[in-house]
Amino acid sequence: MWIKRRFTIDEIVEHNKYMKTFFFDETIESSPGQFAMVFIPGIGEKPFSLSSKNSITVEKRGKFTQKLFQMKPKDFVYIKGPLGVGFRNKDYLAVAGGSGIAPMLYLINNAVIKSLLYGARDNEHLIHGIKDCVVYYATDDGSYGYHGFVTDLITEDLVSQHSKFAICGPEIMMKIAAEKLVELGVEPKDIELSLERYMKCGIGLCGSCECSGRRICIDGPVFTYDEILEMQDFAKFKRLPSGKKQKII
Ligand SMILES: Cc1cc2nc3c(=O)[nH]c(=O)nc-3n(C[C@H](O)[C@H](O)[C@H](O)COP(=O)(O)OP(=O)(O)OC[C@H]3O[C@@H](n4cnc5c(N)ncnc54)[C@H](O)[C@@H]3O)c2cc1C
Ligand code: FES
Repeated sequence: MWIKRRFTIDEIVEHNKYMKTFFFDETIESSPGQFAMVFIPGIGEKPFSLSSKNSITVEKRGKFTQKLFQMKPKDFVYIKGPLGVGFRNKDYLAVAGGSGIAPMLYLINNAVIKSLLYGARDNEHLIHGIKDCVVYYATDDGSYGYHGFVTDLITEDLVSQHSKFAICGPEIMMKIAAEKLVELGVEPKDIELSLERYMKCGIGLCGSCECSGRRICIDGPVFTYDEILEMQDFAKFKRLPSGKKQKII
């Protein structure tokens, strides 16, 4: 799993202008929440959550993802994985924001999500047609589903129907979601969050993904909320590629 292997792109599903799923010709024996380091020669290497055993689901942002978006079936990338620790439970109420939907798609594939609360900035950034669980949508601008933050969709009624909770998305959103669940009586050990930090190696060697003494790439990226409550930097500081700490805003 620490060796880069060449994977050919078999199929590309374009969900919208900003989100694509890339299916590869080979599977990666993995569990939901684990990730892979994807290497494009001449561009670099970045971590992506697996959205199934043979796919990643990517939001177009900067240099790396723009290059990926130009690729076509039969093009290839190099992949190291599966890496990290994934989700541990089942029958989740899941909360996803933006590209945080990627690991949730893998959980849905494995039939372990009962209900999904899914938010994005607008309808153009949402993936539609998610099957096999009940989906409640929210958009910041009200262009689809509930008008407001996805965390507003966490209600006492919905929480009472579930015992395990999975969250992935921007860190501030995850903090608000976890705090709301705790307010509604959920034990922190029953909440799992997938953290994101800048990663160089993805295998525990370089320290670039360090957060309060934990290496997100090998100790996580999925942590229970009681573990996260001991991480002072959660939702406060992240590290830049230089290693310098920067406030999360
Ligand atoms: C464990 C892990 C799993 C990940 N899984 C996925 C995934 O499944 N799908 C996916 O699309 N991405 C995922 N990412 C993020 C991914 O690795 C890249 O960081 C991201 O795609 C941006 O890369 P880029 O080179 O295109 O953009 P960059 O050139 O790095 O950034 C372009 C712009 O986007 C901003 N930006 C970069 N990263 C983020 C971010 N995380 N949130 C908000 N703004 C950001 C930058 O500040 C910059 O303004 C994951 C990251 C980690 C650590
Ligand atoms: S990315 Fe190098 S230690 Fe985590």
